[in-house]
Amino acid sequence: MKQDPRFPNLFITDHPLIQHKLSHMRDKATSTRTFRDLLKEITLLMGYEITRDLPLTTRQIETPLMTIEAPVIAGRKLAIVPILRAGIGMSDGLMDLVPSARVGHIGVFRDPETHQPVEYLVRLPDLVERTFILCDPMVATGNSAVHAVDVLKKRGVTDEQIIFLALVAAPEGITVFQNAHPGVKIYCASLDSHLNDHAYIVPGLGDAGDRIFGTK
Ligand code: URA
Repeated sequence: MKQDPRFPNLFITDHPLIQHKLSHMRDKATSTRTFRDLLKEITLLMGYEITRDLPLTTRQIETPLMTIEAPVIAGRKLAIVPILRAGIGMSDGLMDLVPSARVGHIGVFRDPETHQPVEYLVRLPDLVERTFILCDPMVATGNSAVHAVDVLKKRGVTDEQIIFLALVAAPEGITVFQNAHPGVKIYCASLDSHLNDHAYIVPGLGDAGDRIFGTK
């Protein structure tokens, strides 16, 4: 896990397998199907890293040989919350990793003129004692990411209960995110160079939603 001195709560998962798969995703010749598969595979690998600190407790079980106190994930339950629509490409992988997790949805689109997030749907599981994994592959301006965290925090979820999982981020977006929510940890596979005039990440991978779903 790599860190950037400018962004204390940003963690970059620089595992070679993740970087290799991300390079294939960036290639504009990569098909929709392969792009989707690679995103899911990367999410599984990143999910393994971001769940590393989940607290464990023990539960008594009987193996065929004896009774033991076996480690199980403690107390807090997980909720996976994709930011629609590109976040769906990541939540699929997380759901494979934690099949018992609840799944919420936050629907936000980016106004093409103002680049501000416009909310059209919020559906969340009960909030008590949960760790929320918000996911969206691209943190570009950071506005949707900030908005999604606002949605949770307005309902009483604390910084420590939230993990933000992204694939590619722009420094501009991470600056906005960390100014708004300095206490929320954010993970990505790459911190790219910059945003262009249309708020696309450079070098990036294009429009993640279009590439996941094969739309234009
Ligand atoms: N959203 C995307 O899908 N790609 C970008 O580069 C920026 C925002």
